[in-house]
Amino acid sequence: MFENLLKYKKYRYLSLSLILIVSAAVIYLTQGIEQPANGGTWQGYTLGIFSAFLVLLLTYLGIRKRSYSSRMGTVEGWTSAHVFLGTSLLLIATLHAAFQVGWNIHTLAYVLMIAVILSGFYGLFTYLHYPQVMSKNNNGGSQESWLQELAQIDDEIKNRSGSCRAEIRLLVLSAIENTKISGGLFSQLTRSDNSKIKIQSESDKYTSNKNQERVISYLARALPNSLNHAEASAIDGILSKFSRRQRLLKIIKRNLQIKAYLRVWLLFHVPLTIALLAALTVHILVVFIYW
Ligand code: HEM
Ligand code: HEM
Repeated sequence: MFENLLKYKKYRYLSLSLILIVSAAVIYLTQGIEQPANGGTWQGYTLGIFSAFLVLLLTYLGIRKRSYSSRMGTVEGWTSAHVFLGTSLLLIATLHAAFQVGWNIHTLAYVLMIAVILSGFYGLFTYLHYPQVMSKNNNGGSQESWLQELAQIDDEIKNRSGSCRAEIRLLVLSAIENTKISGGLFSQLTRSDNSKIKIQSESDKYTSNKNQERVISYLARALPNSLNHAEASAIDGILSKFSRRQRLLKIIKRNLQIKAYLRVWLLFHVPLTIALLAALTVHILVVFIYW
């Protein structure tokens, strides 16, 4: 969906935004005859009111995205309009302010608007870039299929561990039970792995089993010391299952990381939008009270 976002309906919203920017520039250039260019001339008011209208329209996207029953345009169209109109707002609002930005309440609205737009650019980058990264990571599979395979491997490991001595059986079960896949947003973003294991022959405490390395190295060392042929073949089988498990967990965690990248920027974009709406209201009240 997002590849067509920018080209939507033969660049409809890119064209509309260019028309708006050129019109705003023409309106801006008609200033300076009676009064110097600023937000308080009729041209300044026109550009200001239009900028505020654009902010409300862009905010509406959030509501439109969630009301699937609405017949007012498609989500794809709204998102394309959002990206281009949001970018044109940057220029139109700058012309409204006539490049006069200083340390005051008016500039707060301007700074917040820029912050929303910049976070929007980052969001657009994630929407265009990460779906491809995710399909490369999945290589034809899906998160669901990897999780199913993981559950199947875990069952197979548990079955095969029945032929091993208690020490190995408990170790293998502990590695499976204490594998941490998802965790909070931060650990998804950093792909941190808090998987643990309890090796009873060494200690009563849990130790790190990051990337399944501890269990794999233990099993590799236990293999030559197997009690009998049945145990040796079971450990060998379990070892190769843990190697596959290690690979699967890497793919699953990378998918979770990409999904986190795709939503984390909205934690900035949306609250900054709310702050912008508040600062804009104050800006309008202040100019009407003091002007
Ligand atoms: C996205 C929307 C808007 C932004 C980001 C914005 C931002 C600004 C900025 C940065 C200035 C320059 C302040 C200065 O001179 O230091 C300004 C001036 C002004 N704005 Fe806005 N504005 C917006 C919308 C509006 C609206 C809707 C109105 C009126 C209905 C308005 C009325 C004015 C007026 C009258 C001035 C001149 C104030 C002065 O020169 O002291 N603005 N605006
Ligand atoms: C002042 C300008 C802007 C405002 C007020 C605004 C506001 C919003 C809001 C309220 C949402 C809905 C978030 C949600 O899912 O809950 C949104 C989504 C989004 N915004 Fe903005 N935005 C602005 C500018 C931009 C710009 C300039 C870009 C990119 C160049 C952008 C890119 C996006 C994208 C990609 C989404 C997600 C759309 C989707 O999930 O379908 N925004 N924005």
